[in-house]
Amino acid sequence: MPAEAKHSMKTKLLLAISILGVCFILIQFVRPNIDNPPVKADFEAPAEVKNIITRACYDCHSNQTNLRWYDKVQPVYWKVAHHIKDGRKVLNFSDWKSMPIADQKGKLWESVNQIIQGAMPLNSYTMVHTEAKVSPADLVVLKNYLSSMVHSKPADTAKTNALDKQYKKWQNAQPAQTHLPTEPNGIAYIPDYKNWQVLSTSERFDNGTMRVIFGNDVAIKAVKEHHINPWPNGTIFAKVAWDQLQDTAGNVKTGAFKQVEFMIKDDQKYASTKGWGFARFKTPKMVPYAAGNALFANECVNCHRPMRNNDFVFTMPVKH
Ligand code: HEC
Ligand code: HEC
Repeated sequence: MPAEAKHSMKTKLLLAISILGVCFILIQFVRPNIDNPPVKADFEAPAEVKNIITRACYDCHSNQTNLRWYDKVQPVYWKVAHHIKDGRKVLNFSDWKSMPIADQKGKLWESVNQIIQGAMPLNSYTMVHTEAKVSPADLVVLKNYLSSMVHSKPADTAKTNALDKQYKKWQNAQPAQTHLPTEPNGIAYIPDYKNWQVLSTSERFDNGTMRVIFGNDVAIKAVKEHHINPWPNGTIFAKVAWDQLQDTAGNVKTGAFKQVEFMIKDDQKYASTKGWGFARFKTPKMVPYAAGNALFANECVNCHRPMRNNDFVFTMPVKH
């Protein structure tokens, strides 16, 4: 290469680097505003629980965001600002006590689940903020606190009686049912799930319920043929939950039937909810969960999102 050509390449390279440098400096001034509005109804819990949540979640899920200098350097800052905006929208610990108690429990359960799934805190965040990682020991603290809030009492005779009554009514009512309850997205209760095969029982940490997951024929066939990611159209899962009862000897058994949930695979029909139609029918009369609110399925999808690389399904079929 002639000397002058080499020289002009060098000049171009220098020019490019300087332009990048100037851009880098300029973008430092383009900043979305992150403010910390007043904290009105802060999350309350025993100190060891509160500390974990504050350390691991508050930067994105509270009005007490504490940015470090390296969070403020662009273009990182744009991403951080985005996380905070979205994070506060779905869950804000600074507004915690303004939620009804039942919602607080629900959100706490969802939070612990998100941590178990490894979805929260966001990996991109803990890579830099290593102090925000939730250790296995932290998780035990959180689980214990959660179960202390939701645990069912031993030998609950009222619940046991309710179970007997409910079961009889249930069995009698089944064949006579003509109008099946239907969710706003058009999914009707499917009584037949009781004849399907059991895919698994949930041993996951739970909210005082015992759960069994059934799969229809299409699901069972897919398992045999190892076609489960994605699951084929026509797959249906039913997840059934009962109260968890404990007798005086400490044995755990199923109590009253609580609800059944369905996921129906049809990637066209349910494209807007990741290819799955969601439905939940709650006791005592199999009332559709969502009465009058077709958006309810978003709640289902959101909580199933940690499994997005697994076609949004948690259950790993028991190997036959
Ligand atoms: C770096 C920011 C960040 C941190 C730290 C963080 N989250 Fe999140 N979180 C988000 C964002 C963004 C969303 C909403 C978008 C999504 O679901 O990916 C979210 C969503 C959630 C949701 C709702 C899921 C849904 O969509 O309904 C829960 C629950 C949650 N986070 C719990 C936690 C808990 C508990 C912690 C602490 C252990 C935590 N997050 C830490 C950013 C964060
Ligand atoms: C709080 C988080 C959360 C929400 C909200 C949620 N799910 Fe799930 N779902 C789970 C978890 C965790 C499992 C795995 C089984 C278990 O632990 O019970 C599961 C499993 C299921 C299964 C069995 C198939 C599978 O993925 O393993 C069905 C069916 C189901 N859910 C339906 C629904 C429907 C319908 C809704 C909304 C009305 C819903 N879920 C909302 C967390 C959630």
